[in-house]
Amino acid sequence: MPQSTPGSLFSAHLAEVARRSAAALEKCGFEALILHAGEPLDLFRDDQHYPFKAHPPFKWWAPLLDAPGSMVLFQPGRRPTLIFHVATDFWYLPNRLPEGGWTSEFEIIEVHSRAEARSALPADLARTAWIGDPLPELLGWGLASINPPDVLRRLDYARGCKTPYEIACLAEANRIGARGHRAAEACFRAGGSEYDIHQAFAAACGQREHELPYNSIVALNEAGSVLHYQILRRDRPAQPHSLLLDAGASHRGYGSDITRTTAYEDAEFAALVAAMDRLQLGLCDLAKPGTDWREIHLAAVQRIASLLCECGVIRCGVEEAIESGVARLFFPHGIGHMLGLQVHDVGGLVADAEGGTLPKPPLDPALRLTRRLEPGFVVTMEPGFYFIDALLGPQRQGPHAARIDWSRVDRLRKFGGIRIEDNLAITADGHDNLTRRAFAST
Ligand code: GLY
Ligand code: MN
Ligand code: MN
Repeated sequence: MPQSTPGSLFSAHLAEVARRSAAALEKCGFEALILHAGEPLDLFRDDQHYPFKAHPPFKWWAPLLDAPGSMVLFQPGRRPTLIFHVATDFWYLPNRLPEGGWTSEFEIIEVHSRAEARSALPADLARTAWIGDPLPELLGWGLASINPPDVLRRLDYARGCKTPYEIACLAEANRIGARGHRAAEACFRAGGSEYDIHQAFAAACGQREHELPYNSIVALNEAGSVLHYQILRRDRPAQPHSLLLDAGASHRGYGSDITRTTAYEDAEFAALVAAMDRLQLGLCDLAKPGTDWREIHLAAVQRIASLLCECGVIRCGVEEAIESGVARLFFPHGIGHMLGLQVHDVGGLVADAEGGTLPKPPLDPALRLTRRLEPGFVVTMEPGFYFIDALLGPQRQGPHAARIDWSRVDRLRKFGGIRIEDNLAITADGHDNLTRRAFAST
């Protein structure tokens, strides 16, 4: 149960990160590791840069989201060192490290240039691997390797099982996100535009756009059929029908990934949303240690096909809907993915620490997770169906024409689609639904 605050769990998290990283280094024949936060990315021929996003392997060690140029040096058996970069630049406010809390776990060296950073590191880096940007200066630093693939692969794999600290961060990101969703829904019901709804979400989360874990998908009406809809229209629709809001919030670098679909005064669509909500909870019940995620995906295909048959969108039987491929025209994405420091977190297809890939089901190239669930995994569960013109249009005269009731499609396409997405932390004997828990407490 994620009741403890992240702060009280950080020390144990860092010890576990050190243990897993030391094992990866030993297997790959290195003695130390440097994790680089990243550097600001310049706009072309400009003095501005893109919003800074710290590299996830660095964030795994230090919840420092806005410290470009900083690094963590890890030498197994020693306290990690945080080389904290403070720019000497009067145009910007110099970065300041928070005092106490997690910083007390590190030796801290403040530096003002890359040359100073090099001096702060051990003179001999011949057995040290670097994870981060391949900076031109590195050629003169005497490093053993820059981004060695075997270390990267092992670190990705090691990030699969979240520590209690990470689960507490994800639980908090869910609480903040649930607050945002509540405000967004109220804005939708008041007739807000996509842009208004986005602003309501971000304001309730208290997060600037670049602090959110991904670009919110704020889709009114038929825009809900675009899986990663990226527009925020400013105009209010003449008639709202539906909102598909896929939006998450961040906490200490960890993001929630939450989708809710809301009907606007249409009882039939509201009933379909309620049916999808029940279907989603039924799929959540399957999420427990040992279950192959591909089986959950196939169960989702089966249950969504069944719902589409029941509501008269698909005219053939469920088995034919699946075998012919017509069901996947309405549900063309995976049932979920790993979640953590990245929204589509790393390691979802990795067979074991040695590498190797667990294949995707042949009909499901979009599935991002093929592993058996383990306690500590955090995954999304996000079934849906959509009326996607690009997929359905060619079928009006295509091989599936007779399997689809086009009058039902034409009645429902103004709603775009339905997706319900929660974040589940896998426990020893089942799962903890961080999203439903967050909504219940908001
Ligand atoms: N928000 C992107 C996704 O659900 O995977
Ligand atoms: Mn999502
Ligand atoms: Mn997702």
